[in-house]
Amino acid sequence: MKKQDVKGLTRSHAFELSEDVPSNQSIAPTIGEVIGRRFGRREFLKGSLAVTVMGAAMDPLSQAVARAARAGTVMTPFTFEEISHGVDERHHVAPGYDAEILIRWGDPVLPDAPPFDPRNQSAEAQEMQFGYNNDYIGYVGLPFGSDSSSHGLLCVNHEYTNEELMFPGLGRQDTKEAALAGMTRELVDIEMAAHGNSIIEVRRDPGGKWSVVPDSRYARRISARSTEILISGPAAGHPRLRTGADPSGTRVIGTLNNCAGGMTPWGTYLTAEENFNGYFSGILEGHPEGRNYRRYGVPGGWYAWARFHDRFDIDKEPNEANRFGWVVEIDPLDPSSTPVKRTALGRFKHEGAETVLNRDGRVVIYMGDDERFEYVYKFVSEKPVDRSDRGANSDVLDSGTLYVAKFLDDGQVDWMPLTFGTGPLTPENGFESQADVLIEARRAADLLEATPMDRPEDVQADPASGRVYVMLTNNTRRKPEQVDTANPRAGNPFGHIIEMTPANGDHAATTASWEILVKCGDPSVAEVGAMWNPATSENGWFASPDNCAVDHRGRLWVTTDQGSGWAKSGTADGVWALAAEGEARGTGRMFFRVPVGAEMCGPVFTPDDKTLFVAVQHPGADGAHHYEPFGRESTFDDPVTRWPDFEDGMPPRPSVVVITRRGGGPIGG
Ligand code: FEO
Ligand code: CA
Ligand code: CA
Ligand code: CA
Repeated sequence: MKKQDVKGLTRSHAFELSEDVPSNQSIAPTIGEVIGRRFGRREFLKGSLAVTVMGAAMDPLSQAVARAARAGTVMTPFTFEEISHGVDERHHVAPGYDAEILIRWGDPVLPDAPPFDPRNQSAEAQEMQFGYNNDYIGYVGLPFGSDSSSHGLLCVNHEYTNEELMFPGLGRQDTKEAALAGMTRELVDIEMAAHGNSIIEVRRDPGGKWSVVPDSRYARRISARSTEILISGPAAGHPRLRTGADPSGTRVIGTLNNCAGGMTPWGTYLTAEENFNGYFSGILEGHPEGRNYRRYGVPGGWYAWARFHDRFDIDKEPNEANRFGWVVEIDPLDPSSTPVKRTALGRFKHEGAETVLNRDGRVVIYMGDDERFEYVYKFVSEKPVDRSDRGANSDVLDSGTLYVAKFLDDGQVDWMPLTFGTGPLTPENGFESQADVLIEARRAADLLEATPMDRPEDVQADPASGRVYVMLTNNTRRKPEQVDTANPRAGNPFGHIIEMTPANGDHAATTASWEILVKCGDPSVAEVGAMWNPATSENGWFASPDNCAVDHRGRLWVTTDQGSGWAKSGTADGVWALAAEGEARGTGRMFFRVPVGAEMCGPVFTPDDKTLFVAVQHPGADGAHHYEPFGRESTFDDPVTRWPDFEDGMPPRPSVVVITRRGGGPIGG
């Protein structure tokens, strides 16, 4: 994506547009010819016909549910009162709940952090303060091993930066006119310091109020600017990972575009590097990594970093971009530990890395590659997890098998191993070792004919039921001849959710079954082709599922990222409860709504389900020109909202919000 292509859009749209670039050239043209035996032809009919035919085709159980829905007697596992769709400058939560700000961009993380002064910011200050654009949140109860729900660590990703909202007097820089000209070394270094991760200690007082523990011994900032990170696993030390600054190919400064993540059974934090391509600049023509970089959209040129740091210029440092796009493991309990990029999990635009402890003791990690027509992956460790000695698990993620998913039209998932020397993953196709397979995981998966999906985001297992939920956020570029049973809508702007059930409850198995849980968008508009339980209200449907969480009662919660697409749905992003069981299956209910321009990330529950932490990312950024009371570009000096402080002169601030129920009790009833 060249920066001139993103005129008039926020950077998150630059991300979205880049995801539009069909970097996957391997899409089988015949895939749309597959007729869905499992769901029948109705899945392929679009527009008003689809709804008519679906209604007619309902089985007796569905008809009974539809009758119950009309009578208002469908039993759902959620009892909270739904909030309504809408867009305004504030956040909203269901009646009877409190939603308080826990920590904001610029608040202190490290003990010596200076007070936040956004008009006089420095990289040094930013690197001691809470970073920008909080995304994933992980929770570890303290002491470790307890199921404490009143004291713990939060592990928070800081995915990217919005210069127009961070810096006074600057405005958008990633347009053709601006050409990043206003970006100075000082501003770039602040951006780099605002990326990465924060570890904070949090505690709930006897009155029920959560706060950040000041001067915590666990407090940590990890950044793209200065944190040294090890590279381990099969690709560590490979010549393609070596640079001038690191001839060993095993040490890299920083982690980038940390989107979602996961927590391991031994209490470490996995943070996923997503759109790493956007930070690199240079010329691809004739580049030794040309085929590889083209497949990942490197160089994206969305930031000015390469102007001041040679390693982000692919001409000056040809291998640096191979050192990003990995999953990074961080031990939040040891602030002196060195984070590790685990190459065994493959290199792609990792959305997240949610884990499940398999019944045989091995860890399985589910991962989406978030771009249009990309794939769903899982990693199965070779070694079992040592549950008695957490330190004994420090190399569990270095050996195992990476698989990519093929969704068959008969409702089966085939998990295909990305193992060097098997099938097409051989020297004839340019793979000389497992390191090559992992560095070019996308191309390896192309050769295995994995199923190109509608942007795989969070992939979350419910450890109790064994079922696994795949968020597919949208794909407006899917053409009618490219639809298949797992991605049944052409030009899909609203996304869908697939439920996978591993064979015999074994997450390490090479097969699973799958079915669609919901097709998102407004069910009252026939052309949308949505599929919800009829009990879903006019506020209960949502669009563009991104992250999700399963609470400890086994209930599914989904958060959304529509970008400026909220103007199409008529509602800001938020948190929806989504029934997955029984007659209510497929019923959504709206619980929380973000302020204008934000997306909703990071849902995580404490073990008692009485607290829900969520991340409000990029408030005031997306689609401000669509917001009628405002109707113009949103900037630091003139933002569409000043959430959450609402103080003159203070820009909007990405923040973690803590949600509790008044009078106590589990979230959602
Ligand atoms: Fe960073 Fe896929 O959302
Ligand atoms: Ca995401
Ligand atoms: Ca999740
Ligand atoms: Ca997102």
